[in-house]
Amino acid sequence: MLVDKFGRRINYLRLAVTDRCNLRCFYCMPEQGLDWLSRKELMSYEEMLHISSVLVKAGIEKVRITGGEPFVRKGFMSFLTDLSKLNGLQQLTLTTNGVLTAPFVPDLKRIGVTSVNLSLDTLDRDRFFAITRRDELPRVMEALEALLQYGIEVKINAVVMEGKNTDDILPLVELTKDMPVSVRFIEEMPFNGGGAHHTKLAWDHVQIMHTIKDKYPGIHKLPDPPYSTSYNYQVPGHKGSVGVIAAYTRSFCGSCNRIRLTPQGELKTCLYGNAVVNVKDLMRAGSDEQELVTALQSAISQKERDGWEAEKSVSNLTVLNASMATIGG
Ligand code: GTP
Ligand code: 5AD
Ligand code: SF4
Repeated sequence: MLVDKFGRRINYLRLAVTDRCNLRCFYCMPEQGLDWLSRKELMSYEEMLHISSVLVKAGIEKVRITGGEPFVRKGFMSFLTDLSKLNGLQQLTLTTNGVLTAPFVPDLKRIGVTSVNLSLDTLDRDRFFAITRRDELPRVMEALEALLQYGIEVKINAVVMEGKNTDDILPLVELTKDMPVSVRFIEEMPFNGGGAHHTKLAWDHVQIMHTIKDKYPGIHKLPDPPYSTSYNYQVPGHKGSVGVIAAYTRSFCGSCNRIRLTPQGELKTCLYGNAVVNVKDLMRAGSDEQELVTALQSAISQKERDGWEAEKSVSNLTVLNASMATIGG
């Protein structure tokens, strides 16, 4: 079992398989993209499978694949299929922007992926283009429909941005009327690869809920699953639910059960902290399974109690200047 020194059990791995993406969401990366990692810098699929298997044996029960956009990496579906066969892995999920996802939905179903988080900030084609700098809304909607058709649970992630998509909040809530999806509104975090960060967030979770309650006064609280990043609600009579992720104003640290691996193999025990160890380097230097476990355990035992508070208290927000695509969310 993996436990940190505050007694938090670590059983959730977020594995970013690439830093590349086929969209350019302005809150995540600049128009020209990032300085992409070379193939050699990336963990190979074999290395990712190996480290995942070591981690699952050590106590990881849930793996979420993130990126960048997982489906832009060549051979991703075949890697995912291999990963799904790991003994002891209870839940395999992914976060995708949906552009390339629809054709793979039957495969996802077949290998046992029961839930997918889909990034979708607007239902309006022009606004989608303004936010992502690509005209791909129709393909994302196809992915959404295919996932539902195959009975895969969908959580929509919508980052709420002042002046960009606040008019989309109500139409997105309306989507839950006939679709059994969870639409989750996320406070914008200052990870944009460009160094800028806000000092005061206008659209925090209070403002988002205020807007929703104004239109749907009957909306009621749902119980939140353990370790949920969102506070969850439902409009009476709607098939789906609504959630708010206070990613900027609230800290999840107290109940944190997760670690992250970046595409180049850095283990991050906190979204806001620096990498503690590079598992790819260890594997390439010939570390055996026991040595890997020892390194992982030692890194996890040093996990910060409240990384977000620590990050906010320093004036130089260097970690926040990273792009979300290099961290995996
Ligand atoms: P599940 O609970 O497994 O559905 O996943 P999730 O909600 O953690 O994952 P997802 O990839 O959909 O991320 C949703 C949002 O939560 C993104 O904006 C993430 O960056 C944010 N998020 C995930 N983990 C953390 C965290 O530890 N701290 C903060 N502040 N935000 C996080
Ligand atoms: N603030 C909040 N959420 C973000 N995401 C990407 N960048 C940001 C940001 N700056 C979300 C995406 C994706 C999830 C993994 O992280 O919408 O769904
Ligand atoms: Fe790509 Fe996701 Fe970043 Fe948008 S937020 S550019 S979809 S990695």
